[in-house]
Amino acid sequence: MARRKKRSERVLLLWNHVGEDEYEAIAERGPTELPWSPGRNATEVSTVQDEIDDISNALAVAGFRTRTVNVAEDIDTVIDAIRRFKPHVVFNLMEFFNDKAVQEAYIAGLYELLGVPYTGGGPLCLLTCQRKFRTKILLESQGVPTPAYVRVDALPVPRDHGLRYPLIVKPAREDASGGIHTASVVNDHDALVEQVRIVLEEHEQPALVERYVSGREIHVAILGNSPPQVLPMLEFEFEDNDDGGPQILSYEAKWDPMSPDFYALDVQVPPRRLPRRLGNRIEKIALAAYAITGCRDYARVDLRIDDDGNPFVLEVNPNPDLAHGTGFMLCAEKSGRTFQSTIVELVDMALSRGPSRLRSVPRTVTRNAKPRAPR
Ligand SMILES: Nc1ncnc2c1ncn2[C@@H]1O[C@H](COP(=O)(O)OP(=O)(O)O)[C@@H](O)[C@H]1O
Ligand SMILES: [Mg+2]
Repeated sequence: MARRKKRSERVLLLWNHVGEDEYEAIAERGPTELPWSPGRNATEVSTVQDEIDDISNALAVAGFRTRTVNVAEDIDTVIDAIRRFKPHVVFNLMEFFNDKAVQEAYIAGLYELLGVPYTGGGPLCLLTCQRKFRTKILLESQGVPTPAYVRVDALPVPRDHGLRYPLIVKPAREDASGGIHTASVVNDHDALVEQVRIVLEEHEQPALVERYVSGREIHVAILGNSPPQVLPMLEFEFEDNDDGGPQILSYEAKWDPMSPDFYALDVQVPPRRLPRRLGNRIEKIALAAYAITGCRDYARVDLRIDDDGNPFVLEVNPNPDLAHGTGFMLCAEKSGRTFQSTIVELVDMALSRGPSRLRSVPRTVTRNAKPRAPR
């Protein structure tokens, strides 16, 4: 087998973290018994730092010259790191800035202004997908099915909203299941009002009230640009819960290793017994959603299938988590890639957008600059 060429480009990994990582605290505590299951310890969870290290190591092993910088909410750090290290490409692992998820898009805008290639979606894509209503309106306009919904900006919630229960109430501008709990699925008006109130008051954003699609949950990882490739799909299988509660990827199910919901999920790649026609339809819909929202390099499209076999897009995630064992990586690995080859592919996609046209960032405003003619 021909030996792969060693790489030598400079890759700057930028991420943003301040304060204590809850998962680090859990790791430091050591094995912790689950109060609801005596004798059983909570699963070990990896920290954000682990994810960053894994990506950085994968690139270093391939020969890239890497530097990892935690931006720690300081915009000067982003600019300095780019100016000093002069990366051929930024591996963009910024998920928020100023504690706001929406500002990840502005950071991508900064890379654009500095002329440095970076992995993943551009500012418009990141902004669009961060706004659930905008995404839904765009998708609907192109015939991509999403669950029926209403938007609520203030109480009271009208009774004639026209949607049939059960419904799910979500904050319009969160991601990673922020604000989504089993109580978010409601069966009557009183519960609906209460959940809308929580979103409006505690999350300080509009409430997205959606038809609850009770069937299978399928996530579609997509990689590439010309053309984008659908990777083997992933299904979340939910254990039957005793209380007959909703089967959703709530915040607890996704993130809380002390919660029973965290353990009531199984992941299947590819999904079991997915009819070919349905699989093809999901693939088409996911690719359309990727294109319409302007995704680039990689993304994950999350869908639910209703009892009549109709798929609905819940959301599009540009730049999904890339840690070992995450949905995206499981799908990439099932496609025959390795963790390392997937990471390198992402860097190559960004590099192929052109060499770094890095402009120097002036430290100060040029003195004696001539005033520009008014335009
Ligand atoms: N309309 C819906 N019907 C059924 N389940 C839903 C619906 N909307 C969200 N969910 C559940 O909540 C989870 C998170 O919702 P999602 O819209 O993907 O928000 P986030 O951006 O926080 O991931 C989904 O993975 C799914 O399990
Ligand atoms: Mg989601």
